[in-house]
Amino acid sequence: MRLILLGPPGSGKGTQAQRLVQRYGIVQLSTGEMLRAAVAAQTPVGIKAQHIMASGGLVPDEIVVGIISDRLDQPDAARGFILDGFPRTVPQAEALDELLKKKHIKLDAVVELRVNESALLQRVETRVAEMQARGGEVRIDDTPEVLTKRLASYRALTEPLIHYYSERRKLLTVDGMMAIEHVTREIDRILAAIGAVEAKAAKKAGEARRTAKTGKSGAKTAARTASKSAAKGTGASGKAARASRKAGKPASKRAKSRLARPPRVPGSAPPERPGKALKRSRKSELKRRDG
Ligand code: AP5
Ligand code: MG
Repeated sequence: MRLILLGPPGSGKGTQAQRLVQRYGIVQLSTGEMLRAAVAAQTPVGIKAQHIMASGGLVPDEIVVGIISDRLDQPDAARGFILDGFPRTVPQAEALDELLKKKHIKLDAVVELRVNESALLQRVETRVAEMQARGGEVRIDDTPEVLTKRLASYRALTEPLIHYYSERRKLLTVDGMMAIEHVTREIDRILAAIGAVEAKAAKKAGEARRTAKTGKSGAKTAARTASKSAAKGTGASGKAARASRKAGKPASKRAKSRLARPPRVPGSAPPERPGKALKRSRKSELKRRDG
């Protein structure tokens, strides 16, 4: 699985990336973490990045593209990866497209974590408090002033990527305002729906959905969001949506049914439609009554 996690500072990219790493055994490639390590080690890249990061700006594209290119060549990235915080500009996204093309790697999806800006300061403050409680090092950019600048950088330079990936039918939007657990479940669900995770993992996610009552509202949100892109023929589910549009289903139903459907196991029979099973049980009920 090859994913990009997109979202403003504090939206939960790092949190969700770590949960995906545990679930699917793939690597998290966080440019923020790599740059912080470079700053701590005072490497030439770290020395250049230090002041930019402390002020809430973005490190030059060529530096981060170089870091990611090297990282993708390492053997642990071969099984799959989650890009957390990269790309962050359109030129970075274009450079990534080139890199992936050269390496014959296909990107599965870009998951956008959508959150209300008003929640972000609170989250960053919580992270500071948690770090202090653990005796860890607080991030130099986790202050209200720098967060304001990071948000401005996000809006000006990173937000255009939503359009960039939506046009390329890679974008899947998840409601990042839900509890951490529910966001994870929702990501699992949409990854299963587009076939980015194997049947076994998808089944596990499906079982979790059925047993967790609270997951329902999240499922509806993603289905609604996906239905918008599906209606336009955009989004990672656009292909399937266009096919079902031909069958004459309304956009909302198309997206919901697409997302609700578990991925096919290669070689297995197609799953029976729920309507068929219902008809059959009605027939046998009538037969039984007629004697
Ligand atoms: P980076 O490290 O990527 O930081 P960021 O994008 O600002 O994002 P954060 O790490 O602050 O937030 P997050 O979305 O990971 O949220 P988290 O899961 O931690 O980049 C830092 C800097 O490096 C940049 O400003 C830039 O200078 C430079 N840089 C990095 N990449 C670059 C690039 N590609 N190009 C140029 N420059 C680059 O969660 C935050 C808190 O919220 C946590 O406490 C968490 O527990 C909590 N939380 C998470 N989800 C939820 C939830 N659903 N509900 C409640 N709380 C939640
Ligand atoms: Mg992070």
